[in-house]
Amino acid sequence: MTLYSQTTRPRFAIAPMLDWTDRHCRFFHRQLTKKALLYSEMVVADAAIHGNRQRLLGFSPPEHPLALQLGGSDPQKLAEAAKIGADFGYDEINLNVGCPSDRVQSGTFGACLMLEPETVARAVAAMKQAVSLPVTIKCRIGVDEQDTDTALDRLGALVWKAGADAMWVHARKAWLKGLSPKENRDIPPLDYQRVYRLKQDNAARFVGINGGVATLREAAEHLRSVDGVMIGRAAYHNPQLLADVDHKIYGAPATTVDYPALIDTMAACIDAHIASGGRAAHVTRHMVGLFHGQAGARRWRQILSTDAAHHDATSEVLHKAFACITTAEE
Ligand SMILES: Cc1cc2nc3c(=O)[nH]c(=O)nc-3n(C[C@H](O)[C@H](O)[C@H](O)COP(=O)(O)O)c2cc1C
Repeated sequence: MTLYSQTTRPRFAIAPMLDWTDRHCRFFHRQLTKKALLYSEMVVADAAIHGNRQRLLGFSPPEHPLALQLGGSDPQKLAEAAKIGADFGYDEINLNVGCPSDRVQSGTFGACLMLEPETVARAVAAMKQAVSLPVTIKCRIGVDEQDTDTALDRLGALVWKAGADAMWVHARKAWLKGLSPKENRDIPPLDYQRVYRLKQDNAARFVGINGGVATLREAAEHLRSVDGVMIGRAAYHNPQLLADVDHKIYGAPATTVDYPALIDTMAACIDAHIASGGRAAHVTRHMVGLFHGQAGARRWRQILSTDAAHHDATSEVLHKAFACITTAEE
């Protein structure tokens, strides 16, 4: 049974985010949702092949289900990197066809690949041959002057034929010139209908939607038209949103988060990380948004952004910050 089998399909995913969805972030998110599919940061294929694999690809078992996102355009290198990812124990290999940063463009991968659907298909086919895991892509609806109708249809036709198991589509174009990566996540207009049509035209295929989804109510609305919803920034900035995913999206029994237990678990994660040479802030920086909008949240944020940043900070800092929440006046 693989991740994209009918009964195990990922109806909800947390988006791959460079510098954000590292292993500490994912471990933290996993405490809030057992079912969401988690994505790694993008790892460039060359780095997976030649770099420090443990640092780039390492994760802990509780993070499953977990997808590795690769960047690259050379099918053979991507196949090799996919194999390395499979050997590490990832549940899915995803190819980045949507990231517009200059660094990515210079290597002709990411969103530029929207202009080279044949290359994407060759890469998918090579990865499929190399691993027995689901191979998926994350793309845009088009770039620059592309007609999104023909561009996305053609990409879809080619990657399905190559054996892709899913397309996760960020429902806006990337403009390759003149916008920063950040602007490219906000300025090109969202076109959810275009992604819905991709699903309608490929009823048997898995199509997931991404971009600008802020609440689980919106996610549920999208799920009437597509198979999965992927949330990035809203989940990172307001992780409490994740606490309802298992119940509201997957139909699991409702639960409440045991915050003291969560803090203990994350404190143990900090202790282990420090013991292996890391710093408390590597973990706590992903938790800053946890009590978003609640009494005491300002102090919580302050402590996590200042005290926790000291090079000799320990997990005590997390308990100290949490005390500001538990003792805050309503
Ligand atoms: C800090 C940051 C880093 C990102 N890095 C990646 C990446 O490595 N690979 C990728 O495919 N998309 C990346 N993205 C884009 C997100 O995966 C997602 O497509 C985008 O944020 C839109 O979804 P959202 O509106 O739910 O945040 C990144 C986004 C952010 C905010």
